[in-house]
Amino acid sequence: MHKRTLLSAALALAALGASHGALAQADTFKIGLILPMTGQQATTGRQIEAAARLYMAQNGTTVAGKKIELIVKDDTSLPDVTKRLAQELVVNDKVNVLAGMGITPSAMATAPIATQSKTPLVVMAAATSSITQASPYIVRTSFTLPQASVALADWVPKNGIKKVVTLVSDYGPGLDAEKYFKERFIFNGGEVTESLRVPLRNPDFAPFLQKVRDAKPDALFVFVPSGAGAAVMKQFLERGMDKAGIKLIGTGDITDDDQLNDMGDGALGVVTSHHYSAAHPSAMNKAFVEAFEKANKGLRPNFMAVGGYDGMHVIYDALKATKGQGGGDALLAAMKGQLFESPRGKIFIDAQTRDIVQDIYLRKVEKKNGGLYNVEFDVIKDVKDPGKNK
Ligand code: DHB
Repeated sequence: MHKRTLLSAALALAALGASHGALAQADTFKIGLILPMTGQQATTGRQIEAAARLYMAQNGTTVAGKKIELIVKDDTSLPDVTKRLAQELVVNDKVNVLAGMGITPSAMATAPIATQSKTPLVVMAAATSSITQASPYIVRTSFTLPQASVALADWVPKNGIKKVVTLVSDYGPGLDAEKYFKERFIFNGGEVTESLRVPLRNPDFAPFLQKVRDAKPDALFVFVPSGAGAAVMKQFLERGMDKAGIKLIGTGDITDDDQLNDMGDGALGVVTSHHYSAAHPSAMNKAFVEAFEKANKGLRPNFMAVGGYDGMHVIYDALKATKGQGGGDALLAAMKGQLFESPRGKIFIDAQTRDIVQDIYLRKVEKKNGGLYNVEFDVIKDVKDPGKNK
């Protein structure tokens, strides 16, 4: 009798434990955020993690009855590591959504896992046009290089620049930037005299810049990933290229808000095109920048931060729309077509392409409140990724 009581008590406890576990699982919504937190792309990871945490602090950690759990993993920007971490997050942690993706190769490596496991993958940083075609489960909240490059190629020839040399990082986004800038610029009557490509890993810009100095174009168009802009700017100025009459132009990755204020006055006047500036003059952005800086010891948010912040917004809204009951397919459906105001301006997730539609700004580096900022002076509204028309 005594024995049986003990046994049934043990069984009852086990059952309780199991249902407790299941309940905890069912009550939790897990986001697997894979980012480069160390290595060459570490600023991207730092910015996106900080933005995701700010979004959660501002919007609560319980949504549609679910407790949001953010699991951050460092892939050191090596795609094999990204892939292994994504697999572990899906199989072991049973995450509801995958997110992050600091560089294009990481997003490409994770795409098949999103497809096979039917897990939405919110790409918050990587920006090669073709990424959204690598899996039907990918939704993007960053930007595409064609979006930014075409806008600049329309502005440049109207502003006295006829001959350009291009210099890009030799991988997906760099090749997109080179191609879309060049095609549009030539269409507009410009001439690209040379197209140079530097390796993504441990780039040495010096020999390339020397070549550009000798070629003496009106301008040098540059794309390098976030975090590499300051090195290019330093070497550009050290070689006196600005004094030799060569203008530096590019997508806004080069005048990255994460580094811009430390680039020195030599950066003044540099014109770039991009989707986000910390100086964007909306009330929402002012509040965003203030809250971000306050939560992160004065760190200024850059375009990566806004991709992370808006990515969390997309996930939260999808969870709300599915009332916490949806699986991967339902969440994905609820992400498509979302339209809301971001710190960068109004954004839209195109339901057909799952890519972001947004305003692209032309900006010039100016001094404002004692610091260097990308000050917007023109805007092209509602730009779809030009890469999707090919
Ligand atoms: C990518 C990475 C960056 O840091 C950036 O600024 C743009 C694109 C990428 O790998 O896709």
